[in-house]
Amino acid sequence: MMFKNYGLLGIEHLEKEDIEEILDLAFVYKDYINKGIKKLSTLRGKSIVNLFYEPSTRTKNSFELAAKYLGANVINFTTQGSSVQKGEILKDTVITLTAMGIDAVVIRHNMSGTPMYLKKYINLPVINAGDGMHEHPTQALLDMMTVKEYKGTLKGLKVAIIGDIVHSRVAKSNIIGFSKMGSKVYIAGPCTLVPEIAKKFGAIVKNNVEEAVEGADVVMGLRLQLERQKKNLFPSTGEYAKYYGINSKVLNLAKQDALLLHPGPVNREIELTSEVMDGEKSCIREQVTNGVAIRMAVLNLLLGGKEYEKVI
Ligand code: CP
Repeated sequence: MMFKNYGLLGIEHLEKEDIEEILDLAFVYKDYINKGIKKLSTLRGKSIVNLFYEPSTRTKNSFELAAKYLGANVINFTTQGSSVQKGEILKDTVITLTAMGIDAVVIRHNMSGTPMYLKKYINLPVINAGDGMHEHPTQALLDMMTVKEYKGTLKGLKVAIIGDIVHSRVAKSNIIGFSKMGSKVYIAGPCTLVPEIAKKFGAIVKNNVEEAVEGADVVMGLRLQLERQKKNLFPSTGEYAKYYGINSKVLNLAKQDALLLHPGPVNREIELTSEVMDGEKSCIREQVTNGVAIRMAVLNLLLGGKEYEKVI
């Protein structure tokens, strides 16, 4: 449980038992939320800063809700309107916020390794909310929770991750996470977007989408990360959609009870057709719902501890 003394920097630092503990607690919190219990005293008196240097809808707002449901104070920091616009660097920004008495930092940044870099300057838990092309650990945790909720286990499942693997921190965290939990992860996409290094993290690389998806228990689409692409890596979004988009014909190659996941935001009709995105196999809304519970569990384990947990 080393991560409890350090923060959540990446799935790569978690043991299987850590992941199980986080998922178990998240299911407890989901149950609380479903019962309308949305004000706990677990983190009363603690202050958390959400430090977002990149846009976010799901991660930022669900961290805020999670912290508030646990009774913490929350600062939502975005670069817009802050002294970052006057040239203040990240290190000084964080040291300044620390001087105000914060207890944990949730950070999203376009530079890979930023959470680790911050740990050099602050002796507080740092939670990675997505760093460049490196990792997005809470996304992978909520994805694993969603699959476990429907399938009962992650062991022995075939998980197919399709699309822009090379730029995707979600793909990397999920490849590592699902592999640690005993799933087999297959990846496919344009050869310019599928790195050979993915094999090092446990992925099986397939040459086409159909092969990756055939017989899968879980099919995960990814957002095309156009903002991270420095040159044209595929001819057009239309051709991408035709050859690498997930439509009902592709999804029907998976098991009949397969789940469709996507971290969002979705470029409709490019990564997923609206038919499958809004279809019965889609778990996209459930992923978002589970994101709140996962972030509650992570904040609790890093800042509170189960012994403080009680309903008020
Ligand atoms: N999945 C995800 O990270 O979405 P946001 O960018 O909206 O937080």
